[in-house]
Order: sequence, then C-alpha cells, then structure tokens
Amino acid sequence: MPQIYQASVTAPVNIAVIKYWGKRCTKLNLPTNSSLSVALSQENLRTLTTASCSEQFDKDILWLNGSEENVASNSRLIICIENLRLLRSRVEKENPGSQTLSKMNLHIVSENNFPTAAGLASSAAGFAALVYAIANLYKLPQSEIQLSRIARQGSGSACRSLFGGYTSWEMGNNDDGSDSQAQQVATKSHWPDMKAAILIISAAKKGVSSTSGMQATVATSTLFTYRAQHIVPIRMQEMKKAIAARDFQSFAELTIKDSNQFHAVCLDTMPPIFYLNDTSRYIIRLAEELNRVAGKYVAAYTFDAGPNAVLYYLSENTQLVLGLFRECYRKAKGWSSDARPCVPEGFNLGLIK
Ligand code: DP6
Repeated sequence: MPQIYQASVTAPVNIAVIKYWGKRCTKLNLPTNSSLSVALSQENLRTLTTASCSEQFDKDILWLNGSEENVASNSRLIICIENLRLLRSRVEKENPGSQTLSKMNLHIVSENNFPTAAGLASSAAGFAALVYAIANLYKLPQSEIQLSRIARQGSGSACRSLFGGYTSWEMGNNDDGSDSQAQQVATKSHWPDMKAAILIISAAKKGVSSTSGMQATVATSTLFTYRAQHIVPIRMQEMKKAIAARDFQSFAELTIKDSNQFHAVCLDTMPPIFYLNDTSRYIIRLAEELNRVAGKYVAAYTFDAGPNAVLYYLSENTQLVLGLFRECYRKAKGWSSDARPCVPEGFNLGLIK
C-alpha cells in the first residue's frame, strides 16, 4: 500500500484597515497600492486545511467545506499548486533519495470554523492555509514572507493571512512580483487591548466580486488613481506608527477614513459599485454618534466588499461599544415597520473577538 504524506495548518481571517483595491498586473496579482490588515481571533474565524499526497491518488482534489471543487477550472489554485510543486522538485533535486512528492497528486481538505452563510470572505484564509499546508507537506525551506508571494497569486488579501497580528502587504516595484509580499508589522500580543467584532448584516454573496470590482475601478475611477498614488503611501506609514505606539485615536481615524475612501472609490467607478446598504450606513451613523458623544474614538468601523461591518475597539470600551449595538439591535427589532427606515435587517451581533 503506497504511503500517504500529510500536513495540517490553520490560517486566520484578516480584515484590512488600509484597503487593497486595484491591480497593476492581473496575471501576477500585483496591487496598485500597499495595504495593512489585522488578523481576527482564530477561535472564532479560521480555516483548517489538510494537504496530503500519495502515489495512490489519481488526480488533484480539493474539498471545500465538504463539497468537491473543480481544481482544473480554478486557474488561481493551479498557479499556487504549480509554484509549490516547483519548489518541492528543487528540494528533491538537491536531496537525491528524498520522496518525489512533487510528482504525486494532492488531496486537500479545507474547512472554515464559521458558517459560509455568515457572508464573510473566506478566500484570504483559504488560500493562505492551502499554501501553508502544502509547503509544510513538502517541507519547503521558504519563509512565510516568501510563501506570501505564492498565496498572493491565489487571492491578493491571502498573502496577509499567513501571519497573525498586524500585517502589511508591501506592493513592491518589480514587474515579476518578487518583492510584492506580506510581512508582520506587530504581533497580536503587542496590543492585547485591541478587540474586534463583526456585525453580520447580510449572508448573501456579494453582487460584484472584489476581483471584477477593482478591475472596473482601475479602468474608470480618477479618484482611485489619486488615492493609490498620494493617499495610501502616507496612510501606510501613519498606520504603522499608530500600531507601534498603540495609539487607538490615530488607528481609528485612519481605519474609518480608509474604509470610507475605499467605498467612495467604488462609487466613483463607472458604473458605480455599491457594497454598503442602509444597515451599513446605520452602523456608520451609530459609531460616529458614539465617538462624538464620547469626545474621542471608541469604535472604529471598516467595511470590505460587502455590507458587513467590522468594529475595532479597546477592551476597556467593550461594554460601551457592544452594549450600544446590542441595544439598537433589540430596539430595531421592536420598531414598527414604518418607523424604521434604517432597520438593521438580519443585523446580528455575531462573531466577537
Ligand atoms: C476590499 O483579495 O478578494 O477586502 O486579489 O482579486 O482575490 P483578489 O481580491 P481580494 O480583495 C480584497 C479586497 C478588500 C480589501 C482588502 O482585503 O485589502
């Protein structure tokens, strides 16, 4: 019976506070600007992936949350696997007598510990876990930074999910993508008081995918060019400084501004892209009102390519922030239909870090 070789890893979901939006090269998935994210707690949100290979497997197969994916039609997946096989074949050449794992087919099993119906993007954690699991299976000597260049080609944001804590994706200058990679800016324990909550507003699949949305933005938005060239480089530096100094006021202001500018750029796209809905805007107003009354930032909100909100806050303000959103949710449910123009439909204080 041929042997089965196997490795399992987990990767966290990451939420950008300085957003990646726009590609300068679609083939290599090179971005038009750098970005920075926070990894969410793996207790609540992570992908667990097991990669195995064996001479007895007759084709590459991927099972995603229990259902089989068509590997042959997923070009991004194929690119990641090809890159990893190439690195493994080098190891085999340098170590004659080692197992020729690069020639065997792969079986990959990937599971999220959060419901797909939660409407959260899982491709980042998914591709990161897949690349890391195969790299472990192949015993590759490459660092996480080097592997992030491969995960990037699966999904841009995936390169940041190879790390916990605070991670930047440096856009790089080289045309071959050899310097477009992620690196950890700070560990999670660097800022133990930082908390995050996800407000699940809609579980629906997004109308415009990130990939096609950002391509339309690159082609049509003038605001986007200004943002990529003149705003993001400064914000990246300021955000790194804010994290290093555990300065929540600067962190919150930058996070809020960058989320709003990302959605402004979507609106500046032709035809315009709307990711926020009435409930998202209701949450923005609530958070803004909370910060105004408090006289400082206590809640920082950010939205990706969909209506769900992520809030960042300090542990000392947990009751204040979550209490307010819970209370509004309770009230909204009790309101009569004509008295609730911005009712958080399906608003669900879901996954809390
Ligand atoms: C709004 O990483 O999903 O979440 O590279 O085409 O797979 P592809 O795009 P993807 O885009 C994520 C966009 C974002 C912002 C971010 O995560 O930085």
